[in-house]
Amino acid sequence: MSSETRVGVVGCGYWGPNLVRNFRALRGCTMAAVSDMDGGRLQHIRDLYPGIETYTSFDQMLADGNLQALAIATPVRLHFPLAQKALESGKHVFIEKPMAASVSECERLVEIAARQKLILMIGHTFLYAPAVRMVKEIVTAKQIGDIRYISCRRLNLGLFQKDINVTWDLAPHDISIILHLMDEMPSGVNCQGVANVTRGIEDICNLSLTFPSGRFACIQSSWLDPRKVREMTIVGTKKMIVYDDIEPREKIRIYDQRVERPPHYDTFGEFQYSYHYGDVLAPHIRQEEPLRIECQHFLDCIKDARTPISSGQQGLQLVKILEASSESLRHGGERITLGS
Ligand SMILES: NC(=O)c1ccc[n+]([C@@H]2O[C@H](COP(=O)([O-])OP(=O)(O)OC[C@H]3O[C@@H](n4cnc5c(N)ncnc54)[C@H](O)[C@@H]3O)[C@@H](O)[C@H]2O)c1
Repeated sequence: MSSETRVGVVGCGYWGPNLVRNFRALRGCTMAAVSDMDGGRLQHIRDLYPGIETYTSFDQMLADGNLQALAIATPVRLHFPLAQKALESGKHVFIEKPMAASVSECERLVEIAARQKLILMIGHTFLYAPAVRMVKEIVTAKQIGDIRYISCRRLNLGLFQKDINVTWDLAPHDISIILHLMDEMPSGVNCQGVANVTRGIEDICNLSLTFPSGRFACIQSSWLDPRKVREMTIVGTKKMIVYDDIEPREKIRIYDQRVERPPHYDTFGEFQYSYHYGDVLAPHIRQEEPLRIECQHFLDCIKDARTPISSGQQGLQLVKILEASSESLRHGGERITLGS
């Protein structure tokens, strides 16, 4: 039997073809089959890659494809039923973010994957970005001291989604990075937003996360902005990092800046904040497509029976935050407390 993992991709709209291209380029993998209900999208794949089998029926692909693994890049409401079927028929599964449409669906998938002893990985792509990996190393080495707070802005004109709001669409990237860096789940979630274009689907949202350690993070997500912005500021007790994903080369800048409150002072009049302004460093980051690293990680986890960095459990934690954000939106931005 061949040691190659035969992979199928479900959903070939905007993002699916990127998965196809990357799996196709990796060793140890045969990008064997693609399924989409839209025949035009399948023709597009056949034009690009004549060797790949195409199916309008997911069930047919599952039955015929002789596949070991499936990657799901459909609208979010279909993640659960498709992943459930794939896991139940013995396939390792990769699901694009967000993992599913509810916490209960995520819990079911985690349970099925564990029972079936299959790999379940979620497309938290930015965790595989060399810039984010470098930020994680800097944070872990305490080069910026302890994180005080993180703020993120992810703005663009579109791409408007019909079934999920902008927080469910864009904030998973920021939330996954924040959880990775903070290494703890938030205890409180607040979200405010407004639906300007499609009724009932917020296109501008502000999400705040408060953590048991007292730290704080805020995420601004928008489909209604003239500029594409992908920016994250990580403020530490000693230094600060600005990660700008739009920058082609200097994606990370480390600012040797801080403010300190002197520990001793006799009178309020003598009290002075001490501001420190040092150098700004832009470390070299190797250029590599995060999605390629992510796809390779999925294949490696299958081969070595390893738990992925972005496992089903991570996907579930993220959807807990998204679900709380929707509840907070329904209550005008009220704080929703997350259980342990
Ligand atoms: N990781 C990232 O950076 C990233 C970026 C963009 C999108 N995504 C994620 O990828 C997923 C897809 O997003 P998109 O923007 O490509 O959506 P899309 O609407 O452009 O594409 C979805 C495709 O799924 C197909 N489809 C629908 N039902 C199907 C079914 N039952 N069987 C097979 N195919 C079916 C549609 O015909 C369509 O071609 C979402 O979960 C999204 O959040 C991830």
